[in-house]
Amino acid sequence: MSAKNISLSAPQITLQSVSVTRKMAASLPGLRQLAADKGLKIHHLGAGYPHPEVTDPRTFLTHKDRYYQYLAEQEGLNNAEDLPEYLRESYSYTDTLGPLSVRQNFAAVYGADWKTTLNPDFLLPTVGASGGISLLCSLFERSGVPLAYITDAPTYAGFVARAELSNQSTIFSVEMDKEGPVIEKLREQIESARNAGRYVPFYYTVPDGHNPAGFSFSIKRRQQILEVLQEYGVLVVEDAPYVYISYASKNDRPLPFFSMDSRLSVHLFTGSKIGFPGPRVGFLYTEAEIQIKGEISVSLRDLLVTEASADILFHNPEALYGFDALLHDSNFQRIESLWPVAEAKLKVYRENREIMMQGLDEGLGKWPELFQWTQPQAGFFTVFEFLSPNITTDDDFITDLVSNHGIVVIPMYDFYPADARLRDPDIGLNELRLSFCFSESHGEERRRDFKEAVEAFCAAVRLISGL
Ligand SMILES: Cc1ncc(COP(=O)(O)O)c(C=O)c1O
Repeated sequence: MSAKNISLSAPQITLQSVSVTRKMAASLPGLRQLAADKGLKIHHLGAGYPHPEVTDPRTFLTHKDRYYQYLAEQEGLNNAEDLPEYLRESYSYTDTLGPLSVRQNFAAVYGADWKTTLNPDFLLPTVGASGGISLLCSLFERSGVPLAYITDAPTYAGFVARAELSNQSTIFSVEMDKEGPVIEKLREQIESARNAGRYVPFYYTVPDGHNPAGFSFSIKRRQQILEVLQEYGVLVVEDAPYVYISYASKNDRPLPFFSMDSRLSVHLFTGSKIGFPGPRVGFLYTEAEIQIKGEISVSLRDLLVTEASADILFHNPEALYGFDALLHDSNFQRIESLWPVAEAKLKVYRENREIMMQGLDEGLGKWPELFQWTQPQAGFFTVFEFLSPNITTDDDFITDLVSNHGIVVIPMYDFYPADARLRDPDIGLNELRLSFCFSESHGEERRRDFKEAVEAFCAAVRLISGL
């Protein structure tokens, strides 16, 4: 066929800007080479991925095979050629809600861990937490009206990327203090958005191990947030990848929003951090009722199921059964809690966090007037702040850290939504996100590499600060 010159046009579509984390990932190979050419070792304090030491799937795969065999045996099949039901289901189209047994098991374990009762019918499988974010945005975009999403300044880059896909949506962000979003600002932003003629469906946040802010909200602030949202009739969307990556003692773990008020919250669970990111298992949970056109009150869950059935339509049943294996012990009894599963991962993250906190303290703790950093109670990150006005953590600063010191960190400025940067053009330009979740080595070598990375960071910061 001859190639004709056809001009296709989509004049309504704008090109989205690329987030700084993606830009970093793209430029990293070149910068690494630059560092390597200078004989520098690369120190990872940037990547937000789960550590390879806790995501080796081999033990899990053996357990999963044994669990599947057990499921087949439970069916009492006598002939080797009979196809077990779980296997048939695993490779068939399933319901939009996925297998009921998996939701029942997850509801029992997760509900017990967070001191609440979950109704398995209200659990909706999602493609990770990202799938939950996308589903919610897609549902509210359906209205066609101008929307305002309330979120924190700074906030999760994946949320901004999804929210900005729609021209009808704008982010109204809320600055935070050490306990969470500033309550007065939360009120102000809901009101400003409404005064601008926008519908405000929800406030999106990451209350435990905030990515990227590197801390968890206080119990008091959680209560205050709920009071404000109740008053204004706005949902809280609680993205919860790090609830189990917690460094707090058992009695000090704050309850998530869905345990406090399941009718005002949408909870996004993901299997990515407690299990594995690859299978893309997640669950959305909400008991909210919402008034829609014609003043009828419907369950938000029903609206989301319709949305999901027009979106992914069917989740991957094999991935969900695999997750079910994680909810069963070696004797195939349902586990009572996911905390022991988390503990295997926590060992690594706790050590890394300790090394980072201790290293920063030893390397830079003498100058509290020049530097400060958050003490993460959960998650993968701490935010490091330069208190001296002479330092700007822009792209040039980051490039210098990689190419001249071999240190990879992420600048914070890009995590502030556009409205926050308009309010304060310098916002985030004195901060870095340091992650303690990822390195290329295991065990003793990981500990050594990580210690070296923190020491190298401190040495670079002292040099840059003229100390
Ligand atoms: C706050 C937050 N939400 C969502 C995600 C993505 O999670 P998932 O793999 O479940 O899509 C991440 C991953 O880093 C995250 O930090």
